Amino acid sequence: MKKSVVLYKRLSDVLMARLQEQVDVTLIDDPAGVGKAALHAALPTAHGLLGASMRLDDSLLALAPQLEVVSSVSVGVDNYDIEAFNRRGVMLTNTPDVLTETTADTGFALILACARRVVELDGWIRAGHWKASIGPAHFGCDVQGKTLGIIGMGRVGEALARRAAAGFGMQVLYHSRNPRPEVEQRYGAGYRSLRALLAESDFVCLTVPLSAATENLIGAAELALMKPSAILVNIARGRVVDEAALVDALKHKRIRGAGLDVMVKEPLPMDSPLLQLENLVLTPHIGSATEETREAMARCAVDNLLAALAGQRPANLVNP
Ligand code: DGY
Repeated sequence: MKKSVVLYKRLSDVLMARLQEQVDVTLIDDPAGVGKAALHAALPTAHGLLGASMRLDDSLLALAPQLEVVSSVSVGVDNYDIEAFNRRGVMLTNTPDVLTETTADTGFALILACARRVVELDGWIRAGHWKASIGPAHFGCDVQGKTLGIIGMGRVGEALARRAAAGFGMQVLYHSRNPRPEVEQRYGAGYRSLRALLAESDFVCLTVPLSAATENLIGAAELALMKPSAILVNIARGRVVDEAALVDALKHKRIRGAGLDVMVKEPLPMDSPLLQLENLVLTPHIGSATEETREAMARCAVDNLLAALAGQRPANLVNP
């Protein structure tokens, strides 16, 4: 008899067909909203779950006594109560590697958009303000030749360092739990304490996973250490930054600007004070959101799920 899988994210036809060859699939749209009752009804017989962007805690796991594996279509696993997974003997898998380069591209898109005021000036043209050639009031700042401080030197951090050093002739500084001598050698990067990195960098990019140690890592005190000309970019998780402190720093121009791909509350509520700031560029958590990369992530998640259900060790097991 085929095993049962609850899918809470739509897959391409190709991947869906591959999955259906091997398992019985129940597709649930909007599992935290209108699909919640259907999810609860499907969990008791589910052997596997595949999806993304849904919090999975002990109370949901308790509804799925036969569950063997949850295959997340994401690299981040902050949505999952890993202790509860371990206690219940449920495997958790993720999709690292395939999204590294695309996520680093998103970081650079925000760095460039903030520095060169791309979004603001696009709006300025559309509002009919372009009547003569622009002057200093609309100048941006250089990216090439500047100093990029990367907080978190994992895969994405390293891909940012490569772009910065090889593509933009930037000096790279980094802060992470452990120094990475090979990254220092490859990209001429310098390890710094968090304080020193914040004080020396022209651009600060966050790539750390969310954990108790990184929640609110950047607050008022840290923002105060940054140069008034510096730009903060967050492609990690919203809660790594104290959003109220960032709003205050941007409002009072204590830093030049910021680019956020992630926010504390997603989707961003329309009454968020972030929406009032001109020196801020926002994107809706698009880090890995290209057609190619999202398909590669989904393929990786299907591989992980099927391997686990076949009794093999999946390639990307988070909780061995
Ligand atoms: C990830 O994979 O963790 C990205 O942030 C998309 O959610």
